[in-house]
Formats: sequence, structure tokens, C-alpha cells
Amino acid sequence: MGAKPFTNPRGTRDLLGDDLILIKHLERTASKVAAAAGYQELRTPLFEETRLFKRSLGEASDVVEKEMFSVPRRGSEGQEAMNRGFTFRPEGTASTVRAYVQGGFAASAPLQKWFYVGPMFRYERPQKGRERQFTQFGVEAFGAQSVSLDAEVVSIAMRFFQDLGFDDQLEVRVNSMGDADDRIKWAQVLREFFTPQLECESERCADCQSRYTRNVFRLLDCKAKRCIELNEGAPTLFQVMGSDALSHHQQFVACLENLGLKVIDDPSIVRGLDYYTRTVFEVHYPPLGARSALCGGGRYDGLVEEMGGRATPGVGFSVGFTPTELALAELGLPLASDLDDLRQQLLPQVYAVAIADEQRDALFVICESLRAAGIRVEIDHRAKSLKAQFKEANRSGARWAIVLGADEADSQQIVLKDMQQKSERTVSQSDLLSLIS
Ligand code: HAM
Repeated sequence: MGAKPFTNPRGTRDLLGDDLILIKHLERTASKVAAAAGYQELRTPLFEETRLFKRSLGEASDVVEKEMFSVPRRGSEGQEAMNRGFTFRPEGTASTVRAYVQGGFAASAPLQKWFYVGPMFRYERPQKGRERQFTQFGVEAFGAQSVSLDAEVVSIAMRFFQDLGFDDQLEVRVNSMGDADDRIKWAQVLREFFTPQLECESERCADCQSRYTRNVFRLLDCKAKRCIELNEGAPTLFQVMGSDALSHHQQFVACLENLGLKVIDDPSIVRGLDYYTRTVFEVHYPPLGARSALCGGGRYDGLVEEMGGRATPGVGFSVGFTPTELALAELGLPLASDLDDLRQQLLPQVYAVAIADEQRDALFVICESLRAAGIRVEIDHRAKSLKAQFKEANRSGARWAIVLGADEADSQQIVLKDMQQKSERTVSQSDLLSLIS
């Protein structure tokens, strides 16, 4: 007996077969809707310096506090090694902004519209819809503070879901985080409101107790039943917001409504990451229950400057594939016909059959020449009987079978069987490629 078999780490998946086909379908839908709006693909490294995420997402965010997959820097010791270490990216915005600043775009070509699809890593408790390695499709647009860019970004997310076949149960929930000054005022009035609840320790949950000083906005999205009740009547940012941010929000909502989107104002959307300013939004699929968010995003007009670049506004979103897959399953999607072409690409076009073992080498050479021309060809490698090879040929889904016997091999010919038409003819090996392509 060898070692006990290994298993994949919790919260990760091996993808193959139909599961992988579904992911490819999501990926191509993402690329299509992003390209239609003029967004270019960006691929950043899967890991970055840990301090990039601390700086951009905020030290007090759940992601930075509890969920980072970090490795220490070699050659340093203790806390210093962790501080100077690396982290597998928990999201895509920080790396995108780092690439924007590093590439000097703010000075040379500030308007940039980028998208990404790839794995993200968060050390969360694995549960339905939450994984430790998951795929996000995101877009980030830099260089304009206009309301129409916010609406464009939301519209791309919605088109992604619509293209996948989602119904009108999808909801766009919007809110505003105002400008930096607005948030200072808001934090103050929120603390005044929450202080009596915090003084009586049994009132708010332990998370809220600790968030009160670190990030008071997060009390508003606490999911504990009693805390939700206590949030009733909490001051909203709109009560203290300056007129510029307020009119930005009103125009944003109007712009989405012009696009025919159903928009819900939701003051509990404060997002868990520190970088947001003004517009924030989430796309929810309510039948999924407590974890119905498929997508989250918003504006981050201070982030480029915070990360060392010239002050440049930005806005974006990320869709999680994991909850999207759950929602699709609820909807009975995708339809088999949506995946037909992806499945076809995995099937051989030709199955090669050797009448006897003596023909296998010559047949293999023919197969390789077809493969070199881009034809998908399958051949038996386990010395199966003629009958078993034909059985495989039928099962493989290949349109053609090519059959090599001694006579054909001698005369540089081969039998070409059309498995659909159930016909066959003997052809010259040199004509084979043109006959099947
Ligand atoms: P987020 O809300 O943290 O935002 O994540 C966006 C989406 O990623 C969520 O709505 C969810 O669908 C998915 N997601 C998050 N964590 C997990 C997980 N552990 N397992 C499966 N899916 C997950 C961001 O990441 C921001 N970077 C969005 C953004 C882009 N804002 C501006 N630009």
C-alpha cells in the first residue's frame, strides 16, 4: 500500500469535463461583453506584495484581517518577514491599480478600460457559494468621473448575466459612499447613533463591537438579526452628503433607469473594502438567500493617488463565478445548446482504426500528420481488438473513422468511413486531409 491518497485543499476544486465547459462558457461570455464596451484584457500576477492589499483594501477590512493567503519574505525574520512578504491576490482591483500606476498611464493615456478573468484567493470558511480559490470576472475603468462610466460598468455586469440567460429576478442594488469629507461627517454621526447600543454590550454582536472604532460603516451591513433591528433609523450618508456627490448619485440612478434596469436604493450597501467613493452597487439574485450577491463594485476616486499615482478616478466591479454557477443551476442554465460548440471542440473529428497490430505504426504516422494540420484525431494506444476499436470509434462522437489494413498500407491508401452517412470508400492517403477538413 502506498501513502493515503492526497485530496485537494478545502475550498478548492479540480475542474474537468462539464464543470470546466461551464467555466469556459462564463469566461467567453465575460470576454465578449467586456470587449463589446471597449475593455482590454489585463493579466496581473496571482500574487503581489502583501502591503499592496493592506494599503488599498484597508487594514480593518475582513479580507486583510482574516482572509489573506500570505507567505513571508525569505531572508527576513518574524513580523518583518510577513510585512515584507507576498499574498495571493484576494481580489483584482488592487493589482489593476498597481499596474495602472506602474505603467504611468495617468500621465500618458489616463482613460483606460480593462477587464480580467482569473483566480482569486481568500481564506474564508468554505460554504455554499464561497470558496478559498474562486474565479472573478472584473472590469476597471480609469480616467473619468462621469456618471455614464458608472452606468457603463453596471451595464456590462448586467449584460453578462443577461447573456447567460438570467431572468428579471436579478436586482441592481445601489448606494453612495460620498466623498472623503462626507464620510468623515458620516462616521461621526454614526458613532453618536451607535454609542448607546455599544455601551450596553449585550446589544450589538462582538464583530460590531470591534468594528465600531475600526470601520463604523461596517455595522450597517452586519448580518446578525439583533444588529439588523438596531440599524433601523441609523443616519444615512445622504443626510450629510455634499451636493456634488448627491447629484452624482441621482444622475447615476436616472442613467440606469434610462437603460431599463430595475434599480433598488439600498443604504446597507457599504462594501467591505476601504477604497470606495461615491457610487457603490451590487447585483443580487435573491433566490440564493443570504448569500445572493453575484457581483459587487463601485467608484474609487482616491485609490490611484493613494497608491502613489497622479490623482485619477476609477470605477469597476467583480462578478464571482461561484455564486453565478449556483444561480445558473437554480435557473436550469445553461441550455445544452449554449454549450454545444464547446463540447464539440473536445470531441475527436477522426478515429483511427488499425485492422491488425502491423498497421499501428503506419496509422500513427498518418494520425500525427492530420493532427499537425489541426484535425482532432483519436487513436487506440492499448492494443485493443478491431471490434473494440470500432466500438470506441462509435462512442467517441467522431464524424470519421479511418481504417488501415495491409492492402491499403501497401498501396498508400486508407478506408475513410463517414460515421454519420454510414458510407465508406477507399481513398489515397495524400487526399485524406482535403476530404475531411
Ligand atoms: P467583493 O464584493 O469582495 O468585491 O467580491 C466581488 C464578488 O466576488 C462577490 O460578489 C462574490 O460574488 C465573489 N466572491 C467574493 N469572495 C468569494 C469567495 N470566497 N468565493 C466565491 N466568490 C466570492 C471585490 O472583489 C472588488 N474588487 C470589486 C470591485 C472591482 N470594486 C471595484 N472594482
